[in-house]
Amino acid sequence: MRSKIVAGNWKMNNDQAETSTLIDALKAQGDFGTTRVIIAPSFVHLAQAVTLAADSGIEVAAQNMHEATSGAYTGEVSPAMLSSVGIQTVILGHSERRAYFGENDATLAKKVTNALDHDMDVVFCFGEELEDRKSDNHFNVVKSQIANALFALPAASWSKIVLAYEPVWAIGTGETASPEQAQEMHAFIRGLVQDQYDAALADDVSILYGGSVKPGNAQEIFSKQDVDGGLIGGAALSAADFTTIIKSI
Ligand code: PGA
Repeated sequence: MRSKIVAGNWKMNNDQAETSTLIDALKAQGDFGTTRVIIAPSFVHLAQAVTLAADSGIEVAAQNMHEATSGAYTGEVSPAMLSSVGIQTVILGHSERRAYFGENDATLAKKVTNALDHDMDVVFCFGEELEDRKSDNHFNVVKSQIANALFALPAASWSKIVLAYEPVWAIGTGETASPEQAQEMHAFIRGLVQDQYDAALADDVSILYGGSVKPGNAQEIFSKQDVDGGLIGGAALSAADFTTIIKSI
């Protein structure tokens, strides 16, 4: 079901003590109403985070997982391992995974299928590079990223999918897409899903914006009709900033 979601991708930040401190600080902010609040700490701290966040309404997600179910994949983490420590949601396709770890559409299609086979929810990230936007190719890039990884899924699987549009040029750069650019792309994405499936399914999917969302710009971006929330990097590391962003919805 389409909902308001604010997710914090902690990336490779926060040790064990910092993880506890940040979760405690978020819990102290009290009730976030009907907004789904998700945090994604490192693999090492997921079990601890699940325990700390229990009964707070804050959901804990993984930042990645492997495309295979188990086996000789040194250093990797499987969906069953995640489920066994209480993780229900996984972020897949983040641009840093694509850029630094060689993840491509084919790998991501397998990861999505493996997550769904284990009854997990997926926050699926995609977005164009600066050159794509400059050459007016951004719609094509986004279309192929979504189509290649997700459009073979049966309609019923889409209740487990959240989309996250993250233009690469806006991630960690302090430069953000304008609310109009975000809305234009989100409406385009919803149209793609409608063309592939149907209007009801497209209307049900939550589409998050990510890329330098901060307390000062969140409200304007979130006010756009096809923007259902945000995937937050840097600003999710501060309880005060993350809380302000959540409350901007
Ligand atoms: P940022 O990161 O908010 O620091 O730009 C967003 C993301 O990578 O999800």
